[in-house]
Amino acid sequence: MTILEVEDITSGYGSMPVLHGLSLKIEKGQIVSLLGPNGAGKTTLLRTIFGILKPWKGIIYFDGKDIKDLPPEKITRIGMGYVPQEENIFPSLTVQENLEMGAFIREDNWSGRLEDIYEMFPDLTKRRKSRAGELSGGMRQMLAIGRALMLNPVLLLLDEPSTGIAPYLVDQIFEKIKALKGHGMTIFLVEQNTQALKCSDRSYILEGGEKKAEGNACDLLADEEIAKHYLGK
Ligand SMILES: Nc1ncnc2c1ncn2[C@@H]1O[C@H](COP(=O)(O)OP(=O)(O)O)[C@@H](O)[C@H]1O
Ligand SMILES: [Mg+2]
Repeated sequence: MTILEVEDITSGYGSMPVLHGLSLKIEKGQIVSLLGPNGAGKTTLLRTIFGILKPWKGIIYFDGKDIKDLPPEKITRIGMGYVPQEENIFPSLTVQENLEMGAFIREDNWSGRLEDIYEMFPDLTKRRKSRAGELSGGMRQMLAIGRALMLNPVLLLLDEPSTGIAPYLVDQIFEKIKALKGHGMTIFLVEQNTQALKCSDRSYILEGGEKKAEGNACDLLADEEIAKHYLGK
């Protein structure tokens, strides 16, 4: 079942287009990654899907609903989570307060969910009273993901979770992302790190706002032309 369908999207800033008629699909329960160099339009695509930027043209369907004209608050309520590339936590609040903020629109008793998140990220449990600003880059990313998970989204958009964190923690982040899939979540993983392909089912390669390749993640990794041209190998 297709959970997200983006078709022929054109989007940008002011009068400058960044994405030029981009189409992609995400099947429920998969990890789908999007790789591309700096400036390719990856963040612009996530902002457009999540309703921060309104596309100039094209369609966006999420879980069978047309979301092209919905604002981010409404998109959040129907089950999409978004972890931006930067400024994705509140540094002056504690770990626990950050997670609680993640539950802001929940009116039910979400304390069980808080415990689920601590179970998924045991390192955060030990730091629940620490200020988020004191955490390492890797721990901050885990916290940012944990915050988005408080609403138990159907689809989670992640913008470069491995960027700027210590290399030994990169593997751990990708392992956590795989574990989320094990919990039934669908993930759209935007990355510059080709390691992302190893934990993905399908992948897309974006450059200059255009799709350059798509397919089974293993096939893309094994394709020498693609590796040479787009994956910096
Ligand atoms: N807020 C903005 N205003 C104007 N141009 C922007 C803005 N954000 C990004 N851009 C431009 O859009 C293009 C794509 O950027 P972005 O989507 O951030 O790429 P990526 O995430 O792949 O690095 C770049 O040329 C960038 O300079
Ligand atoms: Mg970006």
